Amino acid sequence: MKAQALSGRLTIVTAESVFQPHTFAEDVATGLAGSPKSLPCQYLYDEIGSHIFEEICDLPEYYLTRSEREILSDQAGEIARGFPNGAVLVELGSGSSIKTRFLIEAFLAEHGSLHYDPIDISSAMLKKSSLELLEEYETLEIHAVAGEYQDGLEKLRSEEEGDKLVLFLGSTIGNFEREDAARFLSGLAKKFAPGDRLLIGADLRKDSKTIEAAYNDDAGTTARFNLNLLARINRELGGNFDLSRFRHCARYLDLEGRVEIHIESLCAQTVRVELLDRSFDFARGELIHTENSHKFSIAEISAIIDLCGMRIIEQWVDSRELFSLTMAAPKRGR
Ligand code: TRP
Repeated sequence: MKAQALSGRLTIVTAESVFQPHTFAEDVATGLAGSPKSLPCQYLYDEIGSHIFEEICDLPEYYLTRSEREILSDQAGEIARGFPNGAVLVELGSGSSIKTRFLIEAFLAEHGSLHYDPIDISSAMLKKSSLELLEEYETLEIHAVAGEYQDGLEKLRSEEEGDKLVLFLGSTIGNFEREDAARFLSGLAKKFAPGDRLLIGADLRKDSKTIEAAYNDDAGTTARFNLNLLARINRELGGNFDLSRFRHCARYLDLEGRVEIHIESLCAQTVRVELLDRSFDFARGELIHTENSHKFSIAEISAIIDLCGMRIIEQWVDSRELFSLTMAAPKRGR
């Protein structure tokens, strides 16, 4: 673990997982040798991938970010007033922290100062956005963790006083399998003190046309984001993927309520990955699974919150009823 103090108001702790290039190599070797082939979705977010993802959030088809932002901008004041003694804001997967600014500003307006603890897999993004926030907000203190959510939660200052508001935005919960999502949220709920809260964003089930457009944008940005995973293997592991021989595909399964995201091989081909000292064969039309994005009904959200030992305090949807934000407390909470 490496801690870095960049200013009196900022520390960044880097978790073990971020320092281990072996993990990426091993996961790629296992994933590409598997049948069906797959690659773990957290590797989509290297520095380049994190920037492409920011572009996705601005796409006209990608309604998720705009809908969530609408709710946050409308409700941030009320949310901050719900913590009369202030709160530490902990954010899982903070990215650029743009949406979080509504809450940061509301807490600062209400309480004068604030501790913000972002956790993100991309240390470059974490550093950049933390420095920007500190420059803008003079009474903000940041304790950032570069790592996976689990590392982050474990490494956060445990001596920290006060109630915590844990933010899990952007429907990232939908990128877990449904059972894993429940396991993750249960683990979180067990760590909660009575006054702690979870604010979780979840994309709602809706017509497949709207959903599929969000993952197949006309500008090809989502395709670029997905294929960056192969480019990353080329960069970091000496792969020779020819990106023009693969294509992005995303389709929505209405019954299961999830978008399945794959990379498809456009021809029969063999790809060499130098650092693994291995080659991988692809049949024409063969798929590499990279991510699922689950969608939820309001009833499904209520059920999962209840199953995980929490209760809903408040729930909001945007004006077009595309996206939801839920405030939950531990059942044994105040
Ligand atoms: N959490 C985002 C979502 O489920 C992640 C995402 C958006 C994504 N577009 C993607 C992941 C394309 C892989 C490929 O909407």
